[in-house]
Amino acid sequence: MTGRFAGQVAVVTGAASGIGAATVRGLLAEGALVVGGDLQPDEARDGYTPVRCDVTVEAEVEKLVRTAVEAHGRLDLAFNVAGAARSAPIVDQTEEDWDFTVDLVLKGVFLSIKHQARAMTEGGAIVNVSSLNAHVPMHFGSAYASGKAGAEMLTKNAALELGPRGIRVNAVLPGLVDTPLTAGLTASEVLADDFLDAIVLGRPGRPDEIAAAMLFLAGPEASYITGTSLVVDGGWEITGYPDLRKLRR
Ligand SMILES: NC(=O)c1ccc[n+]([C@@H]2O[C@H](COP(=O)([O-])OP(=O)(O)OC[C@H]3O[C@@H](n4cnc5c(N)ncnc54)[C@H](O)[C@@H]3O)[C@@H](O)[C@H]2O)c1
Repeated sequence: MTGRFAGQVAVVTGAASGIGAATVRGLLAEGALVVGGDLQPDEARDGYTPVRCDVTVEAEVEKLVRTAVEAHGRLDLAFNVAGAARSAPIVDQTEEDWDFTVDLVLKGVFLSIKHQARAMTEGGAIVNVSSLNAHVPMHFGSAYASGKAGAEMLTKNAALELGPRGIRVNAVLPGLVDTPLTAGLTASEVLADDFLDAIVLGRPGRPDEIAAAMLFLAGPEASYITGTSLVVDGGWEITGYPDLRKLRR
């Protein structure tokens, strides 16, 4: 087997769709053995074992990691991708929907790191998917953006604690990516021009473009990178200033 991850064992959460599925494809193409956790697990295939796992339930996260170690004898890599949101204005948001969202995007990452790091007895690399919303608020997104900001800080804390054990921990912060999660946004005619104006590269990202950044952070080229955040947003974060080109038109 050849590739950057030949013979390495990886766990991916949220593995059945979008960015997680693209991460699984990338890992398999580069020689890794992959165990994927999802609420709705996808099909097993060569080198890939799907497991039903809710990342907000500790026993299920523990089982996901145990499956990888029992099947392949070790754990080297982990990608914490599972996520979703229940969105509403703060004044209307129910406690239940707040807890659902923050538990998924923050506690789920905590539980995942906890059990993945315990299993990485010979070092390893963990990549968490946060969001551009960790830096940029959005309407109706208080629970999601706050949870994602928490996940970015959790990444730094984990890097601090786990570095001495040879485990690097980093975060990817995607902007708008074309997946089932964002179908309501990317298909919206009302918002289309706003997105095109805001995203320097003029289009949403593809899941494989986010996976590529995650594999970079997990791989040998990133051997001296830990505790950092990589924004992968087509230049969206840098467009907050008024467009001064209007002065010259
Ligand atoms: N798509 C974007 O524009 C975008 C932007 C920034 C960040 N993100 C983040 O990227 C990650 C992946 O999102 P996506 O766009 O690929 O979405 P997606 O809906 O295509 O995939 C998310 C996957 O996570 C799974 N999942 C949901 N809750 C789970 C749980 N409790 N336990 C285990 N699995 C669970 C879903 O079943 C699904 O397969 C999420 O964390 C999301 O917040 C996405």
